[in-house]
Amino acid sequence: MLKTIFNLTAPLARFTALLAAGLAGTCLADQAAAAASSREQLSLDEGWRFHLGDIPTPALKTHDDFYYNAKAGLARGAAAPAYNDADWRRLDLPHDWMVEQPFDAQAGVSVGYRARGIGWYRRQFKLDASDQGKYLELQFDGVATHCTVWFNGTLVARNWCGYTSFYTDITPLAQYGDATNTIVVRVDATSPEGWWYEGAGIYRHTWLVKRNPIHVITDGVYANPVRKQNGTWTLPVEATLENSGSAPAKAQVAVTLLDPVGKEIAHEKTAATVGALEQSVVKLSMAVSKPKLWSVDEPVLYQVRTVVSLDGKIADVVTNTCGFRTIRFDADKGFFLNDQPLKIKGTCNHQDAAGVGVAVPDSLWDFRIRRLKELGSNAYRCAHNPPAKEFLDACDRLGMLVMDENRNFNTSPEYMRQLEWMVRRDRNHPSVILWSVFNEEPMQATPQGYEMVRRMASVVKQLDTTRPVTAAMNGGMNSPVNVSMAVDVVGFNYNQAKYDEFHQKHPGKPMTSSEDTSSWMTRGVYFDNTNSSQADSYDLVAAPWGATHRQAWSAIAARPFIAGGFVWTGFDYRGEPQKFTWPSVSSVFGIMDTCGFPKAAYYMHQAAWIDDRPVLQIVPHWNWPGRERQPLKVMVLSNVEKVELFLNGKSLGAKSVDRIMGGEWEVPYAPGKLEAVATRNGKEVARNAVETTGEPVALKLLPDRNSLAGDGADAQPVTVCAVDAQGREVPTANLSVTFAISGPGEIIGHGNGDNCSHEAEKGNHRSLFNGLAQVVVQSKRAESGTILLTAQADGLKSAEARITARPTAARPAVLPLD
Ligand code: GAL
Repeated sequence: MLKTIFNLTAPLARFTALLAAGLAGTCLADQAAAAASSREQLSLDEGWRFHLGDIPTPALKTHDDFYYNAKAGLARGAAAPAYNDADWRRLDLPHDWMVEQPFDAQAGVSVGYRARGIGWYRRQFKLDASDQGKYLELQFDGVATHCTVWFNGTLVARNWCGYTSFYTDITPLAQYGDATNTIVVRVDATSPEGWWYEGAGIYRHTWLVKRNPIHVITDGVYANPVRKQNGTWTLPVEATLENSGSAPAKAQVAVTLLDPVGKEIAHEKTAATVGALEQSVVKLSMAVSKPKLWSVDEPVLYQVRTVVSLDGKIADVVTNTCGFRTIRFDADKGFFLNDQPLKIKGTCNHQDAAGVGVAVPDSLWDFRIRRLKELGSNAYRCAHNPPAKEFLDACDRLGMLVMDENRNFNTSPEYMRQLEWMVRRDRNHPSVILWSVFNEEPMQATPQGYEMVRRMASVVKQLDTTRPVTAAMNGGMNSPVNVSMAVDVVGFNYNQAKYDEFHQKHPGKPMTSSEDTSSWMTRGVYFDNTNSSQADSYDLVAAPWGATHRQAWSAIAARPFIAGGFVWTGFDYRGEPQKFTWPSVSSVFGIMDTCGFPKAAYYMHQAAWIDDRPVLQIVPHWNWPGRERQPLKVMVLSNVEKVELFLNGKSLGAKSVDRIMGGEWEVPYAPGKLEAVATRNGKEVARNAVETTGEPVALKLLPDRNSLAGDGADAQPVTVCAVDAQGREVPTANLSVTFAISGPGEIIGHGNGDNCSHEAEKGNHRSLFNGLAQVVVQSKRAESGTILLTAQADGLKSAEARITARPTAARPAVLPLD
């Protein structure tokens, strides 16, 4: 040992330096507290180094190796701050390396036939000397899947859930001034947490948050309005303060409620003493007079500003949004929002999107929720895990109800912390209406399962009593002991034949379908083709445990005591091809494909779900060369009772159309125009047609929006299609397209919804599939001007789209060193 101490090796020298830096930090803590200013939430997304594959830590040989290996600050190999990562790839987060991999028939079927493996990330940055004394927290919003994080050579976090965020205090280890700080993350995505595509890597945002020693902890404000029995509204606020300083502090806490236009409409304050390295919870409540209510049609949001001050100087400010709404699940009448009955017209969804995998830019959440709202959907089940927080913000803004779901069914401390984290993070969102503790657990009808759910429900209730707890059961609901007895709302996955029996046996228990349907359909395919692994679009076949779209909704619509349903799924997702295996690499359960392009099921649900405008759609398209005079099955999906069909101007007869089941005609195919006219009380209310098109002669690009914020984060899908000489979209075009982009934007991925496509999702080429493809374009950080996207295909006139990148300040960030 003596020998070791005198042998002042390089690691020991570093150890001494670390000690000195730490002491210096402590001395300055109180000074910094005195010069209190508000928190900084800084993005760490830019400028990471990435290495795909594992990097073994060098073997320990000498006694010194073992001795220093066991010490804080002295991580070895790629985890060591000094490791040379110069030849690693530079990239920005969010990042999913799995979506970059080729498809491989030997890789797992359920995860979408792509390798996952292990990867390393490194990021270096400096901290200003003025940051000394602040409370510094590293935040990871989501890493798939298992990960280990080192900061300046010390292991600071391990996370074993790919869907939960984790926050780590790095204050004691931080270095200031010229010294470099190093974050290293080893991500092990080899073991799956689910049976779908989960992606791999740091796929959600990362942050460095700088706060004064007296601060509100992360997710530390609970402000969820409550309507009292007498009908008046109150906003109870609970804030958890923490003091990382070395002396107790007396803090003042002031909370202000701002209405949708930013006017202060209520204010309350209180005070608390927080001991050094302690937390303290302050509670206050304010009366709110006649707030505007949040609803799915008018999602009105208020802001809650919590200000913590020390001796009159602001130390921390946290702003949350909230919404005033009531929810209620009634055992006979279903769900009520603001005392109005509202049938839940929901979809279940995983979190991957075309071209980007699970590294979904925030603005694509808006796009996807908008697509669902156009469908007539009002609810979203996050299957089977907590979503990105930006997703919930979008649901609040756009008016989409959410069933928020826990990933792991496990009552051991680590997993209970995951559940607690979900409720703590998400309990201010007016969109969240249900906490789901599990999906389809084999223990659901056992005493063990019951005991577990009882504990989980209790943990949820300690944090939020305003939303019911549910569990998505796929059996055992009528067994003597089962988890339905431990939840507030019973979630039925499938099992629609048991709705009535359960309701009769448990008349006081609210019920919802938590998952239904599971019917196969490939977009634009009308004839089942098992050889090519594509399913037809007539909604005739469902998984043995499920039902067709129309059967499933019929069962739910007919029963007022069923609060509503969640179709499996809104969008196709990678993995779990189910009916087909290779070459099918994604599911085809979606009402829309992976890009959000509608399938026939889209119009079935629109007809069944939309009340405030006429829906009228004919399927299939009308391009069937070679099938002349052959009978074709035509479906008309409409919410208008009477529809007459005309082929090239000749009536094929009028029929009553059931808004769930649709209307069917058998039409001998002749090219031309097939038109539907919908009438109500003898008056035409809608008209729609499908037409036989000519050959494609030109490409067309249809951006979702005219502009993007020029912040390097905003992104949007651009639809790619081919048109004939008359400008009509050709639904059968399957041609290869090459893209080019110039100006302040880049292509970050593309897709076409073909469940059997093995084309790369990155790069500049993509084929149209049944007439459509999608390119995802993202702006560049701090650049503005015109983004020019062009598309070319052999023999066709090329297309251009111009998207304006608006000058926009990038989100505040910690600059990477290089
Ligand atoms: C359900 C399950 C989903 C998905 C679906 C496919 O039982 O909850 O995750 O696997 O089946 O039909």
